[in-house]
Amino acid sequence: MAEACLPPPAADTAAFYRELDAYIAHFAAELRTRTVLIPVLQKAQELFGYLPQEVQRHVAGALGLTPGEVGGVVTFYHYFSTQPRGRHTVNICLGTACYVRGAKKVLEALRQELNIELGGTTADLRFSLCSQRCFGACGLAPVVMIDKDVHSRVSPKKLAGILEKYT
Ligand code: FES
Repeated sequence: MAEACLPPPAADTAAFYRELDAYIAHFAAELRTRTVLIPVLQKAQELFGYLPQEVQRHVAGALGLTPGEVGGVVTFYHYFSTQPRGRHTVNICLGTACYVRGAKKVLEALRQELNIELGGTTADLRFSLCSQRCFGACGLAPVVMIDKDVHSRVSPKKLAGILEKYT
């Protein structure tokens, strides 16, 4: 199963709380309940990069829910993460074209090089590793995206040189 890619970690939490509150305020008062919980959590994750307990408590307070209700939704949906993300997102394509041209070996090399599994983040918060099914660049297979950079015809041998450019 592909592991969803998430944005990098938050930098200015006060500004993100303000933006989150403005987003919640867009909804009519009578809708500010469990009805809008998922879009509000999506917005919060987009801003903060993940959903730590304090953000979940903030959302619960704003929507009149208990932290347990919010936490239940966060853990139910694979998309939501309660762990911080790395500064760089390494996104490996596991679509058919990439797979038949060696993506599995590239993935194995990435796991060893970074010492994490798919969906994980390195201890130094430098990289998060995730996968996707086809970037629409099959002629360049196997493809690895790091942040917005597309790396084509990636092989295990090329990986260390590619990763060292991202600090
Ligand atoms: S299968 Fe990898 S880019 Fe299409």
